[in-house]
Amino acid sequence: MTLIACSKIEIEPCDDGTNLYTLADYPIGVAADPGALNFISEYRDIAIEQFNSITPENIFKPELLHPQEDQFAWEQADQLVEFCQEHQKRLHGHTLIWHSQIPGWMQTFAGSNEEWEEMMKVHIQTICAHFKGKVSGWDVVNEAFNEDGSLRQTIWLENIGPSYIEKAFQFAHEADSNALLFYNDYNIAGEERKRNAIVNFMTDLKMRGVAIHGIGMQLHISISYPSERQMEDAMRQISDQGFLVHLSEIDISINPNSRDIEPTERRLQKQANTMVCVLDSYHQIPIDQQYGLTFWGVGDGHSWIPGHFNRVDYPLLFDEAYDPKPVYCALKQSL
Ligand code: G3I
Repeated sequence: MTLIACSKIEIEPCDDGTNLYTLADYPIGVAADPGALNFISEYRDIAIEQFNSITPENIFKPELLHPQEDQFAWEQADQLVEFCQEHQKRLHGHTLIWHSQIPGWMQTFAGSNEEWEEMMKVHIQTICAHFKGKVSGWDVVNEAFNEDGSLRQTIWLENIGPSYIEKAFQFAHEADSNALLFYNDYNIAGEERKRNAIVNFMTDLKMRGVAIHGIGMQLHISISYPSERQMEDAMRQISDQGFLVHLSEIDISINPNSRDIEPTERRLQKQANTMVCVLDSYHQIPIDQQYGLTFWGVGDGHSWIPGHFNRVDYPLLFDEAYDPKPVYCALKQSL
């Protein structure tokens, strides 16, 4: 694979008090956790001052929202809704159908094909109806494809068949016809077979009248992968088919090879340049297809990466002390 180096820009100091989201033509979001919003004042201040869109990092996932077949747990999610309303933040729902973070009862659900479909319908429609008018968009189906372009083996595929994806979108649309509905996945830029499969599949759904409005590119990327060309091609390919593009889970690893590293100036500068490349590509798609950016966490201290991969990393806009990093300034400069 050819790597195209992103152009190096001079990053200027940017601690000028301007809030990020006021500089952009599209929403700038962050994945948030209600516990941290309630108890960590720096976290809360950044979420309020810098971002105007919120994605719940975990609490809207099936495991937490629908813990028992006949029981939904709305309390924390409703608190986040209130927070968004109070501070005028767009709320993006994540996620209705996924293979991970599903409750035990769902994993062991025993039923015919029709019963599985009915169970999925009740799950989706109860949630969409509860948040109707409060959530702007939904990640309806998350991570349904493998890297080779085949469909991932999940309980949904196994028990309903490939039509589960189309049905999930139909059910969500029936319950909230104003919500923008997204398919969301990772490695869409870097894995071309996966990207082609997703774009073809979703375009076919759209052509057949299914309400699918956008594609979320998660952008869990690093300072060396994918290339600028791959990001540009992916965003263009998706927008050419008329979809909204959500850069839905941005973090830029500076330690993709799990070494024992420090966040040196050189690495942080590379991270900042990668951010510039992402925005260069994003700004090439039509403005009315830019659903916005979402960073996958407020600051490095809250990233999922160190825990998940057991390595040090510094992938977000703010450091562990909640101070802005060069990548934050690069973003500001490029908006
Ligand atoms: O809620 C329990 C808590 O009760 C327990 O004490 C604690 C002990 O480890 O675990 C808590 O659950 C954790 C959960 O996050 C909530 O904090 C899980 O262990 C942990 O695995 C889980 O990780 C989340 C991960 O999804 C799960 O797959 C990350 O925070 C979240 O950032 C990550 O987000 C995903 C997106 O939804 C989809 N795309 C990929 C992205 C990164 O994996």
